[in-house]
Parts: sequence; C-alpha cells; structure tokens
Amino acid sequence: MTQTASDISSSAREAICDALNQCVAETAVTTMLAQNFHWNVTGMAFGPLHELFQTIYEDHFTGQDDLAERVKALQGHAEGTLEGMLKRSKVEEHDGHADAATMIAALVKAQETLSATLAGAGELAAEHGDAVTEDLCIERCRTHDKFAWLLRAHIE
Ligand SMILES: [Fe+2]
Repeated sequence: MTQTASDISSSAREAICDALNQCVAETAVTTMLAQNFHWNVTGMAFGPLHELFQTIYEDHFTGQDDLAERVKALQGHAEGTLEGMLKRSKVEEHDGHADAATMIAALVKAQETLSATLAGAGELAAEHGDAVTEDLCIERCRTHDKFAWLLRAHIE
C-alpha cells in the first residue's frame, strides 16, 4: 500500500529527507556546472552546445525545486545554502576553463553521479514504503540518464 507523507514515521522521513537533500545538492551543483559551460564553451559547436547546456540547467533548476519541495512535504528542512550543497555533493565544481569535449565529459560524469544518487534515494524511499518519493527519484533518474546519453553522443 502506498504511504502518504503523513503515514511515514518521523525517523523514516528524516532518513529520506537526508537522501533527498543529497539529491538537491548534486542537482544544484550540476545546474551551476551546466550554466558555467553555457557561458564559457567555445569552438565550432558553440551554438548547439550553448543551447544544450541551457536545456540542462533549466531542467535541473526545476528538478532541484521538485526535490526540495518533497523534503518540505515530508516535514524536513530543505538545505538551501551553497556551502552546505558543496559539502554534500559528490559532483564537483569546475572553473570553466576547458575545451568543449572536456566540458561534455565533466557533465556526463555529473549526470551519472546524479543518477546513482537518485537511484539510491529512490531505493531508500521504497524501503520505507514512500512510493511518492521513489517515483520522483525514478523520474529524475530517467532525465539524468537521458542527458548523459545526449552529452555522451558528442564524444564517443
Ligand atoms: Fe544564456
């Protein structure tokens, strides 16, 4: 049976919120990574890459909001500081000084890291009967897998 937010125990909600805050942090760092590359990419593929990177950061901006608002629905605290996000995130920042292929490779790695983090958060939610969070994590995972493919196809 699907449990709604109010059915889930407070200790389970706390664990799920912690996993979701990890997802928020990594989505936010990847948002900035994509916008950074949107600004600084150069070369003959400037136009399409500038646009693809924008598509990514716009998606991620909405995605991080959906994840953080699920934390709030579960009565947790959505961690909204850049410092806290950077501490948690397994996705690392980049200074933006790189050729296009290096930028793409960094974004592929970020998408793969995010997919793995979201898959883990989804499994944790499922263990606690929280199918709503599980569904959100699976949906976000599907999006990151797709972006990983769209990016990877440039450099294979
Ligand atoms: Fe722009």
